Amino acid sequence: MGQYFTNDQLPSRIQRKSCYVLGQKFMFFTDNGVFSKTGLDFGSRLLLETIPLDEVGGKILDMGCGYGVIGIILSKFTSAFIDMVDINERAMHLARKNIQENQCSNIRVFYSDIYGDIDSKYDVIITNPPIRAGKTVVYDMLFKARDYLKSDGKLFFVIRKEQGAKSLIVDLKKVYTVEVLIRKKGYYIIKCIL
Ligand SMILES: C[S@@+](CC[C@H](N)C(=O)[O-])C[C@H]1O[C@@H](n2cnc3c(N)ncnc32)[C@H](O)[C@@H]1O
Repeated sequence: MGQYFTNDQLPSRIQRKSCYVLGQKFMFFTDNGVFSKTGLDFGSRLLLETIPLDEVGGKILDMGCGYGVIGIILSKFTSAFIDMVDINERAMHLARKNIQENQCSNIRVFYSDIYGDIDSKYDVIITNPPIRAGKTVVYDMLFKARDYLKSDGKLFFVIRKEQGAKSLIVDLKKVYTVEVLIRKKGYYIIKCIL
């Protein structure tokens, strides 16, 4: 069986999952072969419930969007323009369905292998990075964000202690000002500014 970030053709079994985030109800279509198919991931929820929403606006990039939870939920609490990118075609298809399902506007979904198809700069880049894709991919998502952030832009992400949060923070501090916004159940929510 492939991993959730590959595009191999597992039999499709679309399910509809609901969740409440920040007091609002959302519906998401999920499927086999996408991250967190049983519903909103704990780390993604903690990220959404921790980031200061008054700092999240303008133009946002949801890097590794999966079926769209982060961008879609943020679209309901900000007036931002949101780009959501992934390499998993099934996840991108679901993300488009979920945009309709949740009646969101100002969101685009497109294929981009990390920043390969990104040609603009963002006020915010946000991600629950694909740990299973390996350290090179995760580090590229986080460190190359510098080239795609506006000068006052911010990077927000979630990572677990057991996934190497502490050594990652040491490395990030070489290029960003790093703030741990919260640590909960082994999950770290991290903000980086240039
Ligand atoms: C941990 S999941 C997070 C999904 C979603 N943002 C969420 O919070 O539920 C990471 C996502 O990164 C995507 N991904 C993996 N490698 C990637 C790459 N090279 N470029 C862009 N996205 C990638 C995966 O397909 C997956 O959807």
